[in-house]
Amino acid sequence: MPSPMSYAGPQTVNDEFTVSLLAIDDDPGSLDFIRDALTQEGVEILTASDPQRGLDLIARLHPQIVLLDLRMPQMNGMELLERIMEADPGTDVILMTAHQSIESAVEAIQKGAFDYLTKPLSLERLRGLVGKLVADARERHRALQLDRQLLDAYQFEGMVGRSPLMLEVFARIRRVAPHFRTALITGTTGTGKELVARALHRRSPVASGPFAVCNCSAVVETLFESELFGYVKGAFTGAAQDKIGLFEYAQGGTLFLDEIGEMPLAMQAKLLRVLESREIQRVGSPATRKVDVRIVAATNRNLGVMVAEKQFREDLYYRLSMVEISLPPLLDRKEDLPLLERYFVERFAAQYDKPIRGLTRRAQALLARYSWPGNVRELENVLGNACMMLQGNMIDVHDMPERLRNSLPKETAAATGEPLLSLEELNRRHAVQVLEKTEGNKARAAEILGISRATLYRLLEEK
Ligand SMILES: Nc1ncnc2c1ncn2[C@@H]1O[C@H](COP(=O)(O)OP(=O)(O)OP(=O)(O)O)[C@@H](O)[C@H]1O
Ligand SMILES: [Mg+2]
Repeated sequence: MPSPMSYAGPQTVNDEFTVSLLAIDDDPGSLDFIRDALTQEGVEILTASDPQRGLDLIARLHPQIVLLDLRMPQMNGMELLERIMEADPGTDVILMTAHQSIESAVEAIQKGAFDYLTKPLSLERLRGLVGKLVADARERHRALQLDRQLLDAYQFEGMVGRSPLMLEVFARIRRVAPHFRTALITGTTGTGKELVARALHRRSPVASGPFAVCNCSAVVETLFESELFGYVKGAFTGAAQDKIGLFEYAQGGTLFLDEIGEMPLAMQAKLLRVLESREIQRVGSPATRKVDVRIVAATNRNLGVMVAEKQFREDLYYRLSMVEISLPPLLDRKEDLPLLERYFVERFAAQYDKPIRGLTRRAQALLARYSWPGNVRELENVLGNACMMLQGNMIDVHDMPERLRNSLPKETAAATGEPLLSLEELNRRHAVQVLEKTEGNKARAAEILGISRATLYRLLEEK
């Protein structure tokens, strides 16, 4: 129940957040026009009449929106655009050009500009475009705040998740942890099985006891028994003294048998006997010892199939799977992506001590479209690498590994900043769009595009 004090009413987040806009133009008249046109509550307008000052302001104040003149004596606007995109790819840049050339506009958009305006500026179009971006910046700010709150709310024992599937996993861990003797965790690689195993332990009545880990895929077949049960001096050559095994080590706690699908069949039989009798024998000793240990097993293999193929003992499988927690692949819980992104970016920003603010929308879209065969581990690696290499403060598409960028379907490539189309082709498509808007009126289309009718015909014929 929120206290009445903390209830600040609707829209406050919206109202308090100031969007800042920077206009860079060497023409003071143009800057005045922009200031007059756009002055409104909640928008801070900054101006710079030379490009270098503009860059300084961007580096210092990170305006959300930049209006940029394409032709200035000191520096070409296109070059400035590139620098802005490098320094702060999250910025929405609108190019202003007096020279109606779609070539440069198209080039600018490929370089990451949001849109362009032609000079002399139309008050209506300027306000329309900026209004849309201001609303958008507020929306993103709200989403970011919400993500932060959600991140606090949706963490469970070191795991982040808000998708119905993950909330179900968390609920199951809570239900099972107080009571289980054995549990099986399944799921493909990188879905978080080890985290679940630790959560089960931490939420169990033996949380203060030991948590021992045996990675079954890393144990040599002949050493399995002594690894789990220990041995006595003289049990075999090299056994110079008694040694306890993991079962005894985990006494009064939890033993995590990771990659249980890799356990040899003979060892599976011995494990089952221990689970039933709750006693072990050290290798080389006839004495039995009582063990009180909870078992959590995990696998990324399909044990049911392995049972059918006689690679895994059916009786052990039934014993283990009485309590099963299965982790969904990341692809089935994409709702978790924004939270996981924020979680990892904050973690790596702190680790590398960098002021990283987050991902650009394009980068987020790229992550959302990827299939994540390596699941959360792969996401963690991708963001870890990006943060390590990052020079600016926003992670962008080009900070992602090639396999992600290449996994894009072709038609969405342009939207994420991947210039797969030739300029000619882009020009042609733009011309077709304009022609559709003018309902096929070629004279009008040519006028809007700022080209001759002959050029328009040529554009449309090219294929
Ligand atoms: N929900 C989550 N929230 C935060 N981090 C997670 C989450 N799930 C997994 N991770 C992180 O992803 C990485 C992989 O997780 P984990 O080692 O538990 O996967 P696994 O299922 O055991 O994979 P494998 O089958 O390959 O052993 C770890 O660094 C873990 O911390
Ligand atoms: Mg694992």
